Amino acid sequence: MIRIAVMVSGGGTNLQALIDAQNAGKIPHGRITLVVASNASAYALERAKKANIDSCVIKRKDYGNQVAFDAAIVETLHANKIDMVVLAGYLSILGSGVIEAYRDRIINIHPSLIPSFCGKGFYGLKVHEAALARGVKVTGATVHLVNEIPDGGRILKQKAVYIEEGDTPEILQKRVMEQAEWILLPEACEEIAAQLDKGE
Ligand code: GRF
Repeated sequence: MIRIAVMVSGGGTNLQALIDAQNAGKIPHGRITLVVASNASAYALERAKKANIDSCVIKRKDYGNQVAFDAAIVETLHANKIDMVVLAGYLSILGSGVIEAYRDRIINIHPSLIPSFCGKGFYGLKVHEAALARGVKVTGATVHLVNEIPDGGRILKQKAVYIEEGDTPEILQKRVMEQAEWILLPEACEEIAAQLDKGE
C-alpha cells in the first residue's frame, strides 16, 4: 500500500476530492496518511481532522533558507514513511532537496491547460484572470509530475473546460475545480500509486 502525503495551503477542496475518492475505493493502491500545510490557518487542516488523517504545519518563514525548509519537509515525509506526495493547492516552493528525494513521485494539480497560463506567478485566481483576459474559449486543468521547473514536469492528465459568457474568475475557478481538478487529481493519484506499488 503506497503511503501518500497531501500538501496544502488553502481551502483543501482538492484534498477533499482525494479523501472522497479514497472513501469510494477509487484509490485502491494508495492511502492518504499525512497532510502537510504551509500555514496553520489552512481550512484543509479541518478537512484532514474530520477524516482522521494526521497533519502538520511546516512554514517556510520558520526556516532561514530553502535548503533548511526542504530538509524539514523531507525529514517529516521520511518519518511518516511517505512513498508519494500530492500537491493540492500548495503554494510554497519545493526546492531540489525535496524533488530529488521524491523524484517522479510528486504530482501537482494546476488550474489551466499547461503550457498556457503556468509558471512563476500563475496560481489560484490569477490563472483564471489571465485566461479571461486573453479571451481563450477553452481552459481546464492539468496534473503533472513536479520537477525543478515550476509547472514543468511531465504532464500526466488534462481535462478541458469551456469558458462561458459572463464568467468571472471566481465562477470559472469553481467550474474548473468541479469539472476538471476534482476528477483528474484522484485519477492521477491512483495511476502513480499503482505504478509505484508494482515497482515500475
Ligand atoms: C485553487 O486555485 C485550485 O485551482 C488550485 O489550488 C487552489 C486551491 O485549491 N489547484 P484547494 O481548494 O485548496 O484544493
